[in-house]
Amino acid sequence: PVDEEQQGLNKQIVINFSHVVAEDTPKGQAAIKFAEILEQKSNGRIHVVIYPNGMLYNDNNELKALQNNDVQMIAPTFSKMTKTIPTWEILDLPYLFHTDEEVEDVLNGRIGEQLLNQLNRVNIKGLAFWNNGFKQMSSEKKPLLKWEDFKNLKVRTMPSHVLQSQFELLGASSINTSFDELYTEVEKHKIDAQENTLSNIYSKGFYKVQNHITLTNHGLLGYAVLMNEDFWNSLPQDLQDDVVEAMQEATEWNFQIAKKLNQQDLEKLKKDPNIDLNTLSVAEQKKWEKKFKPLYSSYEKNINSTFLEEIRSEIHH
Ligand code: SIN
Repeated sequence: PVDEEQQGLNKQIVINFSHVVAEDTPKGQAAIKFAEILEQKSNGRIHVVIYPNGMLYNDNNELKALQNNDVQMIAPTFSKMTKTIPTWEILDLPYLFHTDEEVEDVLNGRIGEQLLNQLNRVNIKGLAFWNNGFKQMSSEKKPLLKWEDFKNLKVRTMPSHVLQSQFELLGASSINTSFDELYTEVEKHKIDAQENTLSNIYSKGFYKVQNHITLTNHGLLGYAVLMNEDFWNSLPQDLQDDVVEAMQEATEWNFQIAKKLNQQDLEKLKKDPNIDLNTLSVAEQKKWEKKFKPLYSSYEKNINSTFLEEIRSEIHH
Protein backbone atom coordinates (compact mmCIF):
# COMPACT_ATOMS: atom_id res chain seq x y z
CA PRO A 1 0.00 0.00 0.00
CA VAL A 2 1.14 3.55 -0.72
CA ASP A 3 1.41 5.77 2.31
CA GLU A 4 0.54 9.14 0.79
CA GLU A 5 1.67 11.06 3.79
CA GLN A 6 5.08 9.44 3.72
CA GLN A 7 5.33 10.06 0.02
CA GLY A 8 4.42 13.72 0.54
CA LEU A 9 7.21 14.03 3.05
CA ASN A 10 9.73 13.08 0.43
CA LYS A 11 8.59 15.76 -1.92
CA GLN A 12 10.11 19.10 -1.12
CA ILE A 13 7.93 22.10 -1.85
CA VAL A 14 9.76 25.07 -3.35
CA ILE A 15 8.67 28.67 -2.82
CA ASN A 16 10.26 31.05 -5.29
CA PHE A 17 10.32 34.52 -3.71
CA SER A 18 11.14 37.42 -6.02
CA HIS A 19 11.85 41.00 -4.96
CA VAL A 20 13.49 44.10 -6.39
CA VAL A 21 15.87 45.43 -3.74
CA ALA A 22 19.37 44.52 -2.59
CA GLU A 23 19.92 41.77 -0.03
CA ASP A 24 21.33 44.15 2.54
CA THR A 25 18.04 45.99 3.05
CA PRO A 26 15.08 45.53 5.42
CA LYS A 27 13.15 43.56 2.78
CA GLY A 28 16.14 41.57 1.56
CA GLN A 29 17.11 40.59 5.08
CA ALA A 30 13.56 39.76 6.17
CA ALA A 31 13.12 37.51 3.13
CA ILE A 32 16.27 35.59 4.08
CA LYS A 33 15.09 35.34 7.68
CA PHE A 34 11.67 34.06 6.60
CA ALA A 35 13.31 31.40 4.40
CA GLU A 36 15.53 30.20 7.24
CA ILE A 37 12.74 30.04 9.81
CA LEU A 38 10.31 28.31 7.46
CA GLU A 39 12.80 25.68 6.35
CA GLN A 40 13.55 24.93 9.97
CA LYS A 41 9.91 24.86 11.11
CA SER A 42 8.88 22.63 8.23
CA ASN A 43 11.83 20.29 8.78
CA GLY A 44 13.02 21.02 5.29
CA ARG A 45 9.71 20.17 3.63
CA ILE A 46 9.59 23.71 2.29
CA HIS A 47 12.56 25.29 0.59
CA VAL A 48 12.45 29.02 -0.14
CA VAL A 49 14.55 30.33 -3.03
CA ILE A 50 14.99 34.09 -3.03
CA TYR A 51 15.60 36.16 -6.16
CA PRO A 52 16.65 39.69 -5.07
CA ASN A 53 17.49 42.81 -7.10
CA GLY A 54 14.73 42.27 -9.66
CA MET A 55 16.80 39.49 -11.24
CA LEU A 56 13.65 37.56 -12.21
CA TYR A 57 10.88 40.13 -12.31
CA ASN A 58 10.65 43.89 -11.88
CA ASP A 59 7.96 46.32 -10.70
CA ASN A 60 6.13 46.04 -13.99
CA ASN A 61 5.76 42.28 -14.20
CA GLU A 62 6.14 40.76 -10.73
CA LEU A 63 2.44 40.95 -9.85
CA LYS A 64 1.50 39.12 -13.06
CA ALA A 65 4.19 36.54 -12.36
CA LEU A 66 2.70 35.97 -8.91
CA GLN A 67 -0.82 35.65 -10.28
CA ASN A 68 0.44 33.12 -12.86
CA ASN A 69 2.25 31.20 -10.10
CA ASP A 70 5.53 31.68 -11.97
CA VAL A 71 6.73 32.78 -8.54
CA GLN A 72 4.94 31.98 -5.32
CA MET A 73 5.89 35.08 -3.32
CA ILE A 74 6.63 38.75 -3.92
CA ALA A 75 6.77 41.73 -1.58
CA PRO A 76 6.03 44.93 -3.52
CA THR A 77 5.71 48.30 -1.81
CA PHE A 78 2.07 48.90 -0.95
CA SER A 79 2.37 52.02 -3.14
CA LYS A 80 2.86 49.79 -6.19
CA MET A 81 -0.32 47.89 -5.30
CA THR A 82 -2.58 50.93 -5.12
CA LYS A 83 -3.79 50.56 -8.70
CA THR A 84 -5.07 47.12 -7.70
CA ILE A 85 -6.16 48.02 -4.16
CA PRO A 86 -6.95 51.77 -4.10
CA THR A 87 -7.73 51.68 -0.35
CA TRP A 88 -4.01 51.19 0.26
CA GLU A 89 -3.38 54.73 -0.98
CA ILE A 90 -3.99 55.71 2.63
CA LEU A 91 -0.55 54.37 3.57
CA ASP A 92 1.04 56.75 1.05
CA LEU A 93 -0.47 59.89 2.59
CA PRO A 94 2.48 62.12 3.55
CA TYR A 95 2.96 62.86 7.24
CA LEU A 96 0.25 60.40 8.29
CA PHE A 97 2.76 58.53 10.45
CA HIS A 98 5.36 60.18 12.65
CA THR A 99 7.10 57.34 14.48
CA ASP A 100 8.11 53.74 13.83
CA GLU A 101 5.84 52.70 16.71
CA GLU A 102 2.80 54.21 14.99
CA VAL A 103 3.69 52.39 11.81
CA GLU A 104 4.08 49.10 13.63
CA ASP A 105 0.78 49.50 15.49
CA VAL A 106 -1.13 50.16 12.29
CA LEU A 107 0.56 47.66 9.96
CA ASN A 108 0.71 44.81 12.47
CA GLY A 109 -2.64 45.48 14.10
CA ARG A 110 -6.31 45.32 13.30
CA ILE A 111 -6.09 47.87 10.50
CA GLY A 112 -3.25 46.06 8.78
CA GLU A 113 -5.35 42.91 8.87
CA GLN A 114 -8.32 44.71 7.35
CA LEU A 115 -6.11 46.13 4.60
CA LEU A 116 -4.58 42.73 3.84
CA ASN A 117 -8.02 41.14 3.65
CA GLN A 118 -8.80 43.36 0.70
CA LEU A 119 -6.57 41.08 -1.35
CA ASN A 120 -9.26 38.40 -1.29
CA ARG A 121 -10.87 40.18 -4.21
CA VAL A 122 -7.85 39.58 -6.43
CA ASN A 123 -7.06 36.00 -5.38
CA ILE A 124 -3.86 36.84 -3.56
CA LYS A 125 -3.02 35.63 -0.09
CA GLY A 126 -1.69 38.55 1.97
CA LEU A 127 0.73 37.25 4.57
CA ALA A 128 1.98 40.41 6.27
CA PHE A 129 3.08 43.99 5.95
CA TRP A 130 6.80 44.63 6.29
CA ASN A 131 8.42 47.96 6.95
CA ASN A 132 11.37 49.70 5.38
CA GLY A 133 11.05 53.11 7.00
CA PHE A 134 10.43 56.75 6.33
CA LYS A 135 11.28 58.26 2.97
CA GLN A 136 13.79 61.06 2.53
CA MET A 137 14.58 63.17 -0.53
CA SER A 138 17.68 62.88 -2.69
CA SER A 139 18.38 65.45 -5.41
CA GLU A 140 21.11 66.22 -7.89
CA LYS A 141 21.53 69.91 -8.55
CA LYS A 142 20.46 71.58 -5.32
CA PRO A 143 19.25 70.63 -1.87
CA LEU A 144 15.48 70.54 -1.33
CA LEU A 145 14.96 72.64 1.77
CA LYS A 146 11.75 74.53 0.96
CA TRP A 147 8.68 73.45 -0.93
CA GLU A 148 9.45 76.09 -3.54
CA ASP A 149 12.65 74.20 -4.40
CA PHE A 150 10.50 71.58 -6.15
CA LYS A 151 9.27 73.96 -8.83
CA ASN A 152 9.77 72.46 -12.31
CA LEU A 153 11.77 69.50 -11.04
CA LYS A 154 11.27 66.02 -12.43
CA VAL A 155 10.73 63.72 -9.47
CA ARG A 156 10.62 59.95 -9.77
CA THR A 157 7.73 58.29 -8.00
CA MET A 158 6.37 54.80 -7.66
CA PRO A 159 3.09 54.23 -9.51
CA SER A 160 0.74 55.65 -6.88
CA HIS A 161 -1.79 58.39 -7.40
CA VAL A 162 -1.06 59.91 -3.97
CA LEU A 163 2.71 59.98 -4.53
CA GLN A 164 2.39 61.54 -7.95
CA SER A 165 0.00 64.22 -6.71
CA GLN A 166 2.17 64.87 -3.68
CA PHE A 167 4.99 66.25 -5.84
CA GLU A 168 2.65 67.97 -8.25
CA LEU A 169 1.23 69.91 -5.29
CA LEU A 170 4.78 71.19 -4.69
CA GLY A 171 5.11 72.33 -8.31
CA ALA A 172 7.15 69.42 -9.67
CA SER A 173 6.26 66.87 -12.30
CA SER A 174 6.39 63.18 -11.52
CA ILE A 175 8.01 60.44 -13.55
CA ASN A 176 7.23 56.80 -12.93
CA THR A 177 10.28 54.55 -13.15
CA SER A 178 10.56 50.90 -12.23
CA PHE A 179 13.00 50.46 -9.33
CA ASP A 180 15.38 48.28 -11.38
CA GLU A 181 15.78 51.08 -13.93
CA LEU A 182 16.10 53.87 -11.43
CA TYR A 183 19.86 53.92 -11.10
CA THR A 184 20.34 54.21 -14.87
CA GLU A 185 17.81 57.03 -15.04
CA VAL A 186 19.51 58.82 -12.16
CA GLU A 187 22.91 58.33 -13.77
CA LYS A 188 21.68 59.69 -17.09
CA HIS A 189 20.34 62.77 -15.26
CA LYS A 190 16.79 62.09 -16.40
CA ILE A 191 15.44 62.61 -12.90
CA ASP A 192 16.20 65.61 -10.68
CA ALA A 193 15.07 64.08 -7.42
CA GLN A 194 13.48 61.05 -5.83
CA GLU A 195 12.05 59.92 -2.51
CA ASN A 196 13.34 56.81 -0.82
CA THR A 197 14.53 55.33 2.45
CA LEU A 198 18.20 55.71 3.33
CA SER A 199 18.67 51.95 3.06
CA ASN A 200 17.51 52.00 -0.58
CA ILE A 201 19.45 55.20 -1.33
CA TYR A 202 22.57 53.69 0.14
CA SER A 203 22.34 50.10 -1.11
CA LYS A 204 21.62 51.19 -4.69
CA GLY A 205 24.15 54.04 -4.68
CA PHE A 206 21.69 56.78 -5.75
CA TYR A 207 23.62 59.17 -3.48
CA LYS A 208 26.61 58.96 -5.82
CA VAL A 209 24.75 61.10 -8.36
CA GLN A 210 22.07 62.72 -6.21
CA ASN A 211 24.34 63.82 -3.39
CA HIS A 212 21.98 66.29 -1.73
CA ILE A 213 19.92 64.44 0.82
CA THR A 214 17.22 66.03 2.93
CA LEU A 215 15.85 64.17 5.92
CA THR A 216 12.15 64.85 5.55
CA ASN A 217 10.55 61.67 6.96
CA HIS A 218 7.55 62.68 4.89
CA GLY A 219 6.16 59.30 3.97
CA LEU A 220 6.28 55.63 4.66
CA LEU A 221 7.86 52.94 2.53
CA GLY A 222 6.59 49.49 3.37
CA TYR A 223 5.69 46.22 1.74
CA ALA A 224 2.85 43.78 1.36
CA VAL A 225 4.16 40.23 1.50
CA LEU A 226 2.07 38.26 -0.96
CA MET A 227 1.59 34.63 -1.89
CA ASN A 228 -0.17 33.06 -4.86
CA GLU A 229 -3.53 32.02 -3.46
CA ASP A 230 -3.84 28.67 -5.27
CA PHE A 231 -0.37 27.76 -4.09
CA TRP A 232 -1.35 28.74 -0.55
CA ASN A 233 -4.50 26.62 -0.78
CA SER A 234 -2.47 23.67 -2.05
CA LEU A 235 -0.38 23.58 1.13
CA PRO A 236 -1.51 21.10 3.78
CA GLN A 237 -2.76 22.67 7.01
CA ASP A 238 0.38 21.99 9.02
CA LEU A 239 2.58 23.68 6.42
CA GLN A 240 0.20 26.65 6.25
CA ASP A 241 0.63 26.93 10.02
CA ASP A 242 4.42 26.85 9.58
CA VAL A 243 4.20 29.63 6.98
CA VAL A 244 2.07 31.79 9.28
CA GLU A 245 4.38 31.29 12.24
CA ALA A 246 7.54 31.86 10.22
CA MET A 247 6.00 35.02 8.80
CA GLN A 248 5.12 36.31 12.27
CA GLU A 249 8.70 35.86 13.43
CA ALA A 250 10.21 37.29 10.25
CA THR A 251 7.87 40.29 10.49
CA GLU A 252 8.85 41.10 14.06
CA TRP A 253 12.46 40.84 13.03
CA ASN A 254 11.86 42.99 9.93
CA PHE A 255 10.65 45.93 12.01
CA GLN A 256 13.81 45.80 14.10
CA ILE A 257 16.26 45.36 11.24
CA ALA A 258 14.56 48.17 9.29
CA LYS A 259 15.33 50.66 12.04
CA LYS A 260 18.86 49.36 12.40
CA LEU A 261 19.79 49.38 8.69
CA ASN A 262 18.41 52.87 8.04
CA GLN A 263 20.30 54.15 11.08
CA GLN A 264 23.52 52.45 9.93
CA ASP A 265 23.18 53.90 6.45
CA LEU A 266 22.55 57.35 7.91
CA GLU A 267 25.84 57.08 9.81
CA LYS A 268 27.65 56.05 6.62
CA LEU A 269 26.17 58.96 4.66
CA LYS A 270 27.09 61.38 7.46
CA LYS A 271 30.71 60.30 7.17
CA ASP A 272 30.83 60.74 3.39
CA PRO A 273 32.38 64.15 2.60
CA ASN A 274 30.63 64.22 -0.79
CA ILE A 275 27.16 64.15 0.74
CA ASP A 276 25.28 67.33 1.50
CA LEU A 277 23.00 66.11 4.28
CA ASN A 278 20.22 68.39 5.52
CA THR A 279 17.19 68.13 7.74
CA LEU A 280 13.87 69.71 6.86
CA SER A 281 13.03 72.43 9.38
CA VAL A 282 9.94 72.09 11.56
CA ALA A 283 8.52 75.33 10.17
CA GLU A 284 8.99 74.08 6.62
CA GLN A 285 7.44 70.73 7.46
CA LYS A 286 4.31 72.58 8.63
CA LYS A 287 4.13 74.26 5.22
CA TRP A 288 4.46 70.93 3.41
CA GLU A 289 1.75 69.43 5.56
CA LYS A 290 -0.54 72.29 4.60
CA LYS A 291 0.25 71.79 0.92
CA PHE A 292 -0.56 68.09 1.21
CA LYS A 293 -4.00 68.60 2.81
CA PRO A 294 -5.92 68.10 -0.48
CA LEU A 295 -4.55 64.54 -0.66
CA TYR A 296 -6.36 63.73 2.57
CA SER A 297 -9.69 65.23 1.54
CA SER A 298 -9.44 63.55 -1.85
CA TYR A 299 -8.82 60.17 -0.21
CA GLU A 300 -11.79 60.62 2.11
CA LYS A 301 -14.04 61.76 -0.70
CA ASN A 302 -13.01 59.35 -3.44
CA ILE A 303 -11.64 56.22 -1.81
CA ASN A 304 -12.79 55.62 1.73
CA SER A 305 -14.48 57.89 4.23
CA THR A 306 -13.78 55.97 7.45
CA PHE A 307 -10.30 54.43 7.27
CA LEU A 308 -8.49 57.68 7.96
CA GLU A 309 -10.42 58.21 11.21
CA GLU A 310 -9.70 54.62 12.22
CA ILE A 311 -5.99 54.99 11.61
CA ARG A 312 -5.87 58.30 13.44
CA SER A 313 -7.58 56.86 16.48
CA GLU A 314 -5.24 53.84 16.41
CA ILE A 315 -2.24 56.18 16.30
CA HIS A 316 -3.50 58.43 19.10
CA HIS A 317 -4.94 55.76 21.39
C1 SIN B 1 11.48 48.75 -2.79
O1 SIN B 1 11.90 49.11 -1.69
O2 SIN B 1 10.98 47.64 -2.99
C2 SIN B 1 11.62 49.67 -3.96
C3 SIN B 1 11.15 51.01 -3.64
C4 SIN B 1 11.10 51.91 -4.86
O3 SIN B 1 10.62 51.51 -5.93
O4 SIN B 1 11.54 53.06 -4.74
